[in-house]
Amino acid sequence: MTEPTEVQRGLEDVVALESRICFIDGKQGRLIYDGYDIRDLAARSTFEEVAYLLWYGQLPTRTQLDDLSARFGNLRTLPDEVVRAIDAFPAAANPMDVLRTTVSGLALFEPEETRPGTSSIGGAQRLTAVIPTILGQFHRRRAGLPPLVPRPELSSAAYLLYALLNREPSELESRATDVALILHADHELNASTFAARVTASTLSDLYSAITSAIGTLKGPLHGGANERVMELLEQIGTVDLVEEVVKGKLSRHERIMGFGHRVYKVEDPRATILREWSRKLGEAKGNLRYYDLLRKLEEVVHREKGLYPNVDLYSGSVYALLGIPRDLFTPIFAASRVAGWTAHVLEEYQDLRLIRPTAKYVGPTDLKYVPIAERGA
Ligand code: ACO
Repeated sequence: MTEPTEVQRGLEDVVALESRICFIDGKQGRLIYDGYDIRDLAARSTFEEVAYLLWYGQLPTRTQLDDLSARFGNLRTLPDEVVRAIDAFPAAANPMDVLRTTVSGLALFEPEETRPGTSSIGGAQRLTAVIPTILGQFHRRRAGLPPLVPRPELSSAAYLLYALLNREPSELESRATDVALILHADHELNASTFAARVTASTLSDLYSAITSAIGTLKGPLHGGANERVMELLEQIGTVDLVEEVVKGKLSRHERIMGFGHRVYKVEDPRATILREWSRKLGEAKGNLRYYDLLRKLEEVVHREKGLYPNVDLYSGSVYALLGIPRDLFTPIFAASRVAGWTAHVLEEYQDLRLIRPTAKYVGPTDLKYVPIAERGA
């Protein structure tokens, strides 16, 4: 064992493990899943294909893809006990709390063989298939919409929209959602994926690992920046006020959400793709207000601070144009990232090493124990 030396706060730049799943080239602005550029995947593949790629390390054949789509369709139903539990949650609950609690509770009702402590693609497929049902079940009840009856024949993207909106989405809406799901499916050792791998590295089960990941994604420093972007657009109101609001914020050293990234030093390639989808959807819906505001925001923030957009700048506008309530933006992130989380957990099981870093102790070591009776009031 090597002696601990310098503390790397936040584990920044620490290379913790080897992985074949995802590569981020922060200087060139490239994101690669299992060898494939995210731009090709977003233009030509589907979320189902990407989930297969992340789990198996290769693109599926037509038969393999059809099998996976059919499995997703069959795995969408929740046990009655879990539906009743969701219905008993407070309508005002945070949907991320609902998701975390339900994924954890679901493990109680799943057959053991789909959730062993070692490799289980069955468990990964189950969780990926069922998260839209959990979100739809909760959201429909709180919104007074009819109860959700799972639709096995829909694609993952169309089903997610159907579950949340209680209507058949258009092809354009489904494709926009599919692209958003593809773009969020993995991002190397981000905090929630790392949390999932830490849990898996103790040989705990897949459901425990994904429960850890959901709890970690919930934090506003990880998921949730897109909600703040939409709040900012509301605060700004019109394009002619962008300059004034941004300059005011920067002069107070406030952060502008949706800009900057720890790894990307140029534009996040996911932002490039979502910008186009924000425009396309805006045109289709006759509402380019978000797009126009965001373009101006980009121009001013880049000029004033040299910062580039990240994935969160445009994703909120895409979801808002689809009619999705703001507090479901982070749960949708989870509905996509679960593919990556589970791929990483399965990879962890294959090459297991307990993840357990070391702390540099900075407290005293020679204190004398004082009995409680002698410590004063
Ligand atoms: N707005 C204003 N200034 C910023 C921003 C921002 N969004 N991001 C970085 N900066 C500035 C910092 O103030 C600092 O400036 P200074 O040197 O004058 O003090 C400089 O850029 C470097 O900032 P760091 O925090 O050291 O950069 P880091 O790479 O660690 O930050 C982070 C990355 C946390 C994403 C940051 O850019 C940020 O807070 N962005 C806004 C939140 C956001 O959009 N998060 C989503 C990220 S994508 C995702 O997680 C899915």
